[in-house]
Amino acid sequence: MQRRDFIKICAAAAATGAQPAFAAGDLKPRFYSRVQLVDESRQPLRASRLAAGENYVFHYPFEGTPCFLLDLGRPTVRNVQLKTEDGGSYSWPGGVGPNRAIVGYSAICAHRMSYPTRQISFISYREKSTASKVSRPNTIHCCSEHSEYDPASGARVLGGPAPQPLSAILLEHDGATDTLYAIGTLGGEMFNAFFAKFEFRLALDYGPERARKRISDRSVVTRLDLFCKQQVRC
Ligand code: FES
Repeated sequence: MQRRDFIKICAAAAATGAQPAFAAGDLKPRFYSRVQLVDESRQPLRASRLAAGENYVFHYPFEGTPCFLLDLGRPTVRNVQLKTEDGGSYSWPGGVGPNRAIVGYSAICAHRMSYPTRQISFISYREKSTASKVSRPNTIHCCSEHSEYDPASGARVLGGPAPQPLSAILLEHDGATDTLYAIGTLGGEMFNAFFAKFEFRLALDYGPERARKRISDRSVVTRLDLFCKQQVRC
């Protein structure tokens, strides 16, 4: 969703008296910088070059907060009604791209905030070929305590102890150039708790204060198996 679209929705709703897509009292999208997603050679990432079912990682809205970028290879559900742990409600608009199959989510597990590091990742998208007895196909599964999320429905919780969906990263697809942008987040952000819990680790991995630095222009997208040495598959 684009910022201007959001404004248009609110303006139209005000003119007609109808409820906007994000009604008063609901959680609103939080817009950060509009950041272009680029490949490892710093060239604009083309959405059509994404491999369906592959785990890609980028950082947004801060240098130390990892996110998943996924092409699910199938249309996503639109306007999914979701709730955060503290009762905030919001409507996830669906994926972007020609088939609405491309989605972005914070890769910080909503349970105890397991996240992909350069050394290891317990959380990843599992399509059919990488699913197992404990992880259903086509889900984001965290092997720490088996929280499971449905990326085609706003990362709603399918199982395990996670108390809320993964925070969604709002993406924009430019159809003319086939490029992708991250523009904000929607849902239960956990960034403050994440920075507090992993302050020491993040300082080692990213440098003092750098993890909290907002990304302002572009973010590099990397395959998870290249970003991280070991993927735990349960
Ligand atoms: S941290 Fe992911 S399930 Fe506990």
